Amino acid sequence: MTNVVVVGAQWGDEGKGKIVDWLSEQADVVVRFQGGHNAGHTLVIDGVTYKLALLPSGIVRKGKLSVIGNGVVVDPWHLVEEIAKLTGQGVAVTPDNLKIADNATLILPLHRQLDELRENASEGLKIGTTKRGIGPAYEDKVGRRAIRVVDLADIDALPGKVERLLAHHNALRRGLGIAEIDGRELIASLAEIAPKILPFVDTVWARLDAMRRDGRRILFEGAQGALLDIDHGTYPFVTSSNIVAAQAATGSGLGPSAIGYVLGIAKAYTTRVGGGPFPTELNDEIGELLGVRGREFGVNTGRKRRCGWFDAALVRQTVRTSGIHGLALTKLDILDGFETIRVCVGYDLDGRRIDHLPAGQAEQARVIPVYEEIEGWSESTAGARSWAELPAQAVKYVRRIEELVGAPVAVLSTSPERDDTILVHNPFEG
Ligand code: IMP
Repeated sequence: MTNVVVVGAQWGDEGKGKIVDWLSEQADVVVRFQGGHNAGHTLVIDGVTYKLALLPSGIVRKGKLSVIGNGVVVDPWHLVEEIAKLTGQGVAVTPDNLKIADNATLILPLHRQLDELRENASEGLKIGTTKRGIGPAYEDKVGRRAIRVVDLADIDALPGKVERLLAHHNALRRGLGIAEIDGRELIASLAEIAPKILPFVDTVWARLDAMRRDGRRILFEGAQGALLDIDHGTYPFVTSSNIVAAQAATGSGLGPSAIGYVLGIAKAYTTRVGGGPFPTELNDEIGELLGVRGREFGVNTGRKRRCGWFDAALVRQTVRTSGIHGLALTKLDILDGFETIRVCVGYDLDGRRIDHLPAGQAEQARVIPVYEEIEGWSESTAGARSWAELPAQAVKYVRRIEELVGAPVAVLSTSPERDDTILVHNPFEG
């Protein structure tokens, strides 16, 4: 038995929620290791829908430990709200089943404001962020001026830290022509929220290490998708954290040998929210149809997702940058009824054939997808629970994807219902 990391193999929204929930039943602990409440995970359990943004998916299952690792950026006010919402739905969130890394970075209201201000500005680069303050919080972490979870335990030491932070932010705010932040007010609001967060704070790396030595099973729950990774994604149209599977180790305080099996989640087509390159995007009625059938609207922000054909070149890339052992392929049924289906197998860049997305922004915008056409199927694949229930052409499509991306399909999901799943290989078996 091994630990499992779940990562999005595209631009996020691949349907990780269902897969993570299904895997979490077999896990002892579920760990978030990057991102923040920019994520949106929908879980449907016994007919009840739970929408999570920051809390690990294990939280809705009794007897599981949920951990927010050091790689996550934590908005304490949001966290308190999310806990209250879940409590209202009858889910117990206590210091026994939730632990937050003492060395995780805090998202402050000034981060959210800055994120919003940049996104709403008429000039400059529009990333299309979730406006939750994720980027500015990571900037402060790397800039060595962040306020961290552990700092909530020592309010008396906050003035010096806040002063250093505001020396940066107030200079920025003066330049932007917005009101400066009053350090005393910020400290007062942190002192007010601290008692609600502190009971959950823990030396997470040590606890996880002990659990691992004890043979407990860890599920590392990735948020977003590898193409939004700060290093390996479509920079600068990315989020501000590392998303690739290796981050599961860094973002939780365990060594890389703790990772085990890497499960990449990919949709049978492609979607993206926010700006940035998307070679196989369909700005036509097919794109519309995929969006309507696939209900492609953001969980958190309600934004309409851009839709296009499956890009095997991109997934082949994330299979390599994340060391993906197997894929969970989701939403195959959305392709039911198409006469032909296209799959991108590589790109044409200025008349040259290339097999991966180049790193440069201008080149990424210029690539033209090279497609392979695959015959579709007219039957329904929705709800299939075995290969025998799938039309032959649908099986061919899956097999071709496996060949093109260089990884086998370990799990095939055929509807949002947890039992509508074809299991080829249990990731926890390594
Ligand atoms: P940020 O993470 O809010 O800074 O947004 C940066 C980019 O990542 C934007 O294109 C967002 O739309 C995208 N993004 C962030 N979180 C998610 C997610 O959970 N699913 C899909 N896209 C996301």
